[in-house]
Amino acid sequence: MNHIADYIFNFINSAEIIAVRLFVKIFVAALIMLFLMYINFFYRMLKWVKTFNFHKEKYKKILYFCFGLMIYLISPLFLRQIFKSSGQKMPVLFYYLMYLPSIYFIVMVLGYNFFFIFYSGIKYFYKSLIFLIEKIPKTTAFANKLKFSQSRRDFFKKLTPAVPGVLFGYTLFGNLRYTYAREISRHVIKTNNISREFDGFTFVHLTDVHAGIHMKRKALDELVENINSIDKHIIFLTGDYVDFNHSYTKEFVQAFNKLKHPEHGVFACMGNHEIYNGYETMAKTLTNCGFHVLRNSHKLIKKSGKNLVICGVEDLSTGKCNVADALSGTPHGYKILLCHQPNLFNEFSKKYDFDLMLSGHTHGGQINIIDIKGLRIAPSYLITDYLKGFYKENGKLLYVNRGYGVTGLPIRINADPEIAVMKFKKV
Ligand SMILES: [Fe+2]
Repeated sequence: MNHIADYIFNFINSAEIIAVRLFVKIFVAALIMLFLMYINFFYRMLKWVKTFNFHKEKYKKILYFCFGLMIYLISPLFLRQIFKSSGQKMPVLFYYLMYLPSIYFIVMVLGYNFFFIFYSGIKYFYKSLIFLIEKIPKTTAFANKLKFSQSRRDFFKKLTPAVPGVLFGYTLFGNLRYTYAREISRHVIKTNNISREFDGFTFVHLTDVHAGIHMKRKALDELVENINSIDKHIIFLTGDYVDFNHSYTKEFVQAFNKLKHPEHGVFACMGNHEIYNGYETMAKTLTNCGFHVLRNSHKLIKKSGKNLVICGVEDLSTGKCNVADALSGTPHGYKILLCHQPNLFNEFSKKYDFDLMLSGHTHGGQINIIDIKGLRIAPSYLITDYLKGFYKENGKLLYVNRGYGVTGLPIRINADPEIAVMKFKKV
């Protein structure tokens, strides 16, 4: 046991960058939690199978089958590490026959366990309530009425697979939205701060492409074709170009070499996923693609002597993000700040002089359980206040792009992939 603890401890500390170390810690904790959730899921499902009163031999067969299925659905999560660490791309057959089913299964297990915790909470609250009512004199009959009969309990037991069933449907829906529902969102930024020369100036904002097992060459080509077909003066990219596996960098480069650079070029900042793929290597790769990579620096776009200032910062997770450096020495003009993570917008908007910050990172929440007319239930709110769309604070504007790719789960619910096109209008 000590040996395992030592191994985990060494594994955590082997990461050189603090952000990665923290990520590994969260990953290990999540892995343990997930393992317990798998056990609970199978235990509950077997309990459901038991309600059919199968013959002992048949039940045994079902038990073996379930155990085999569990191994089949869990193993791809570990096997993918083999491809990753050997720098291999995941074979298509493995992806569709093993990896994707294991992802669907993870969502079902997670969803089921959250439902289980919620349901158990309500159940025990209800039971405690009945227990308290029973303590009041002459309420025994009333308390008995409130108690669930055996038949009602059996009915609920029979409904057990309904929860994973609904979750499967939800996962399928989210997977299809991610794969097919790609939006080119169009916005007009009305501002007094921009000079007349830039009235009508249009840019494309793309972020979080995450080239990888869920964003392969064909999808990348389609993305580049889409951007090429848009009328624009400049392109802004705000990080997370390749997901976790560096072997997909080549696919990203091959696809983006076909990107038609508009009149004023392509500007890029770094994201947190660049850390996982070799931060400096990725910066060089992006520069080789012909992008202006802004790392706590700025560049000027000039029109008839007027300036549009493009600033970009290092990713927050590197601990080297410095807006002051990026803005240092900038002349008068409308200032756009490219910053992958939107988390510190409030602080930045108080401290620094810029007009518009462009970010990504959140994937629009990626999975927003409910998002109807102002009512939004999104787990991502645990991490950030800025999920998607425009935010205005201290006279500064932030746009959080939903991004194009995914990380982890190829699922997007109420957060379709996005290419944003924005036009300035001088008012
Ligand atoms: Fe991302």
